[in-house]
Formats: sequence, structure tokens, C-alpha cells
Amino acid sequence: MALADFLADLDSLLTSANAAFAAAADSDSLEVARVEFLGAKSGRLKTVQQGLGKIDKPDKPAAGKKLNEVKKAITAAFEQAQQNLSAGGGEDAGDDGFDPTLPGRRARLGHIHPITQTIEQLKEIMGRLGFSVAEGPEVEDKWHNFDALNIPPIHPARSELDNFYLATAEKAAGEPMLLRSQTSTVQIRVMEKTPPPVRIISLGRVYRPDTADATHYPMFHQIEGLMVDRGVTMADLKSVLRLFASSFLGGDVHIRFRPSFFPFTEPSVEVDISWQGGWMEMGGAGMIDPNVLRAVGYDPDEVTGFAFGLGVERICMSRHQVTDIREFYRNDVRFLEQF
Ligand code: PHE
Repeated sequence: MALADFLADLDSLLTSANAAFAAAADSDSLEVARVEFLGAKSGRLKTVQQGLGKIDKPDKPAAGKKLNEVKKAITAAFEQAQQNLSAGGGEDAGDDGFDPTLPGRRARLGHIHPITQTIEQLKEIMGRLGFSVAEGPEVEDKWHNFDALNIPPIHPARSELDNFYLATAEKAAGEPMLLRSQTSTVQIRVMEKTPPPVRIISLGRVYRPDTADATHYPMFHQIEGLMVDRGVTMADLKSVLRLFASSFLGGDVHIRFRPSFFPFTEPSVEVDISWQGGWMEMGGAGMIDPNVLRAVGYDPDEVTGFAFGLGVERICMSRHQVTDIREFYRNDVRFLEQF
């Protein structure tokens, strides 16, 4: 057989194979075309290939080379046609490739941030104990953040290094202003405008220039509690905090009170909660100092009260075994999705 004829057969085979694969409108007709051209027993490529044996010896390398090229090209054309079909390019699809019969993409639904969830739950629990919710501003003056809370003028808690003082707000107000470092400010604001008895909680952000680590962040949330009435004692404080902790964290939660000091409570305690096999400080509490009651116009001989201020992030960490407070603020959906 002449080399030229063999080569011409290969060329026309490739042309018809290309046309047949491109014309296949679904996988059934593509399969028919595949068997016709690439079928192992009697495919047309096989048939043409048999001509190779009749080619003169010196022409064999050239013929073999061409045969391989055409084989590759036909196989490639078949695979391309297969891909086009599975990509939705078949007869079901319009020219723009849009297939209205494919299932839609589910919209990703967000949900409430774990800290907001915790805040809502804490409000719920304290509401059942008769505490209503009060609010106060995040930008505060020194009276509400320090003076009325019995924090003396030379106290280190007022330091420029331990607070975010706000130069612009100070200009506008004509006195030093700062981002509140504690929600105890709300105790003062509530007592200033409400005669006793009061029973409130306040939940919100507080700011301290702390270096962020596993349990600290320069902004965090506190839940402040305040109860003032005739005959309120430390026993009330402890029962409320225990009830609060067991309602939110489960009956087997351990909390511990350690003697401590705050200028606005006497006596004062620090409240710890079991976490990661040890203890984590939740915040402070105590009986309201008579000086504070006097500063808001209450009579310390008539009424007594307790207050507490706990970290919301830490309460949430204890509940959900979160090991790093920074996770709450990284906006990593893989973390947030778990709540
Ligand atoms: N305000 C205190 C703090 O932020 C906590 C506290 C609140 C202590 C109420 C006693 C009473 O550390």
C-alpha cells in the first residue's frame, strides 16, 4: 500500500471523527460515535491501522508516526465532546450554558454571634430573677466611671495608660471623657434617677488597653448586676450568682468567691468559674460601699445593696469550652458556625 494513500485515509478519518463527536448531542449518541471510530474490535481507526502492515518497510516509521498523531487527536476530540456534554453543553442547555433544571445554589444563612446569643440568654435568666435591663453610654465622664464609684483622685485605675481617654470628646464636653472601663457606670446612672428599690442588669462593651491574649481583649462585654433594697445581704449576692451560673452553665458548675477589693464595694469578692480543669476569673462583686450610696443620694442607713460585674466572653468560653477569647473577633466563619 502506498504511503500517500495511508496518510490520506488517516486524515479523512480524523475529519469525520471530529465531526461525529462534535455532532453528538447526548451521551448515547456520543457512545455510538465512540464505538464507530475508537471501538477496539472493528472501529474505523482499527481498520485503517491494519493498513500499516502493508506499507513498505522504509515508509513504516513515517506511517506509524502519523497513525499515533491521529489516534491521539481522535481520542482528544472524544474526551472534549464528553466534557462539553457533562458541563451542560448538551441539547438541554441554551447557548448561554444556563440550565434551569440544575438544582440551585443554597444561600448561606448567617446567625447571631455567640456573644450576642450569650447576652440574650443572660438577660433571660436574670429577667426570671426579677432584674430588668438598663443601658448606659460607652463614652463616659470621670464622675460616672470613677468619682461616684468611690475611686479616689490618685487611684491608678484612672491612669492614662489603663484607659482610653478621648481627646475629641473632651473638647466637646469641656471635661475629660473616656471609653468606659467598666459597666459599673450604669449602677450610678440608674441610682441617680431611680429611688430604691432597684434590681437591674446592664450588658455592654467596656474598653481597656490590655494586650490581647487567650483571656484578654482590649474590648469586651460585661454583665453588671445591681440590687438595692432594705435588708439586702451578701447571702443574696451569693445565691443570685450561684443561681445565675447554674442556670447558664448547668447544675454541676463550680463557682468560687475570693476576698478582694474594689473601691465601690465593701466587702468585695472576686468570682471564679471552673474552666479547662482550673479556674478562670469571671469578674468582681460585693456589697455596695456606703459612699457610693451617698453619692447617688441614697441613705446607707435605710438600704443596702450588692453589685457584680462579670465578663460575658468568659462566661461564654466556659459554657462552650472556647480556649481563646480572640476567636470571637476573628470573624472566621468556621469558628462562628459552631454556635
Ligand atoms: N467593675 C468591676 C470590674 O470591672 C467589677 C465589679 C462590679 C466589682 C461590681 C464589684 C461590683 O472589674
